Amino acid sequence: MKKRLLSGIQPSGAMHLGNYFGAIKQFVDLQNDYDSFVFIADLHAITTIHNKEELSKNTLDVALDYLACGLDPLKVCLFKQSDVTEVTELAWYFNCITTMPYLERATAYKDAHMKIKEVNVGLFDYPILMAADILIYDSEIVPVGQDQKQHVEYARDIAQKFNNIFGETFIIPKALIMKEVSVVPGIDGKKMSKSYKNTIPLFGTDEKIKKAVMKIVTDSKGTDEPKDPETCNIFKLHKLFLGKDELDRLQDKYKKGGLSYKESKEMLYKEILDLIKPMRERREMYAKDIDKVRDILNNGARRARIEALKKINIIRDKVGVKI
Ligand code: TRP
Repeated sequence: MKKRLLSGIQPSGAMHLGNYFGAIKQFVDLQNDYDSFVFIADLHAITTIHNKEELSKNTLDVALDYLACGLDPLKVCLFKQSDVTEVTELAWYFNCITTMPYLERATAYKDAHMKIKEVNVGLFDYPILMAADILIYDSEIVPVGQDQKQHVEYARDIAQKFNNIFGETFIIPKALIMKEVSVVPGIDGKKMSKSYKNTIPLFGTDEKIKKAVMKIVTDSKGTDEPKDPETCNIFKLHKLFLGKDELDRLQDKYKKGGLSYKESKEMLYKEILDLIKPMRERREMYAKDIDKVRDILNNGARRARIEALKKINIIRDKVGVKI
């Protein structure tokens, strides 16, 4: 029996290289080895998106992105979070055994609190809903980016706490963080993130991608000067695309001098286009047949709900709402 893997992405706007290398690529690489559940976290997105058109469009976009990147709906249970309402019921039980000070210690909450004076309750409760996502399907492995690691730790703590209070119920899940891709740098060298406006889009037009690549920040060394690959933001991105030999060769060129940053950027641009070409084609194919995408999500939801219903029945019994 394969182990259960679960992960999700919030539908919060255009997918970028950071999302791909930090998350989706892992789901695709692991889909043969695990019993994979991959979902679109539309309920989590409501913590920030309060617009019907925007939310539904973003949700379908993530479904297209997942399929374009190579998730195979025959291997992976692909669904949207809100189709499994048992998850929000479980989140309530977790709410009732979790303290406010514990949630106040979450770094994501602290960051949000610094930026927004009056954080909504949903945002505050984010880790609880995420714990419910993970635990309701008896997930063992949760592949996530470094920034989500603490949330998986919260899920582990909450599972343990529930088990202590109500008796053995949940498997304690493990985060899987792929080291070499855990942080994808953006064009300014900081972590690539929509909120930093430093992304390279995954499915942008050629011009958009080129523009972003050409804006990658470098020092001002001229063509002939030797350059330090380890501190170069372009080189850090090359690492995601090139094999060891190609990377060694590029490293030599950096150290010897003679390669301009502009040339390095042009190489990177080509590497990106090569990666996304087949993905773009797949995305266009599915985009022409949105009903098929809806079918895939509905089928996924059906399967996910069977699992969730089994589990919530056990949980209801343990909590005492079943009489
Ligand atoms: N918080 C994740 C993100 O920001 C999305 C998410 C929601 C998730 N629930 C999850 C990821 C459960 C893994 C497991 O992208």
